Amino acid sequence: MYSKDQISHEDYQKTADWLLSQTQHRPKIAIICGSGLGLLADVLQCQDSFKYSEIPGFPHSTVQGHAGRLVFGELKGKTCVCMQGRFHIYEGHSLSKVTFPVRVFKLLGVETLIVTNAAGYLADSYHCGDIMIIRDHINIPGLAGLNPLNGPNDEKFGPRFPSMSGAYDKDLRNLAFDICKNMGMSQFVQEGVYCMVGGPNFESIAEARLLHRLGADAVGMSTAPEVVVAKHCDMRVFGLSLITNKIARSYGDSSAVNHQSVLEMSEKRAAVLQELVTELVNHMDVN
Ligand code: 6GU
Repeated sequence: MYSKDQISHEDYQKTADWLLSQTQHRPKIAIICGSGLGLLADVLQCQDSFKYSEIPGFPHSTVQGHAGRLVFGELKGKTCVCMQGRFHIYEGHSLSKVTFPVRVFKLLGVETLIVTNAAGYLADSYHCGDIMIIRDHINIPGLAGLNPLNGPNDEKFGPRFPSMSGAYDKDLRNLAFDICKNMGMSQFVQEGVYCMVGGPNFESIAEARLLHRLGADAVGMSTAPEVVVAKHCDMRVFGLSLITNKIARSYGDSSAVNHQSVLEMSEKRAAVLQELVTELVNHMDVN
């Protein structure tokens, strides 16, 4: 079952070599922008951008709110590569496709991965519009055997049995907290556990109750596979969830979520998130 989707080291290398031949930029930081959060890529200086469809070996993005472009450029003088739009399991992509860009980034020389996403909240203390610094994740598809590292291990990237403890870098989380304080936005910044589900349907009430009991603060349909693959190849990871909606946990709760309301809230708060990521990159000890 794995051979059909198996991607060889040479496949990643071919895509990386193609990109290196098309741009002078040599990024140390990669940023994956979630639903409605692609604005960040537009502020990169000296841009070189590539539609996913023109990059050899790259999957194609199909979700509304995801532009489907890879953008190279400088943010606060630091060279970054930005994914405007990511790939999801629910689009029909295999997990090796979903995480393909992360290994390409590794081969480009990227050392730090920043992931952003839109997520619903379960934690009682959260509100719509909050920004959650991801402390840890619960990878529901991963626990159930849907893992991007399934199949033969590529030792050139990392070990067969990688640890996921400390996956979300403590120093970067602390730095982000300090930046939030300085920006006067502490009142809507949280730190918590992101739970990935497969989607594309939103959670039933009973599922929401289950995830809440498991310790999930926020729930979304992405991020964990990319982080697993990034940790496997020893990248430093930082993650942010934009809290776009409440997840109902009682049968009397009439709050209903849809993709449009998720996009509206993420667009409303995108500028704040963009500012936070920009300041984080500004203060990062790279380049
Ligand atoms: Cl409520 N659930 C899931 N699974 N993903 C989301 C979401 C909810 N809100 C934004 N993304």
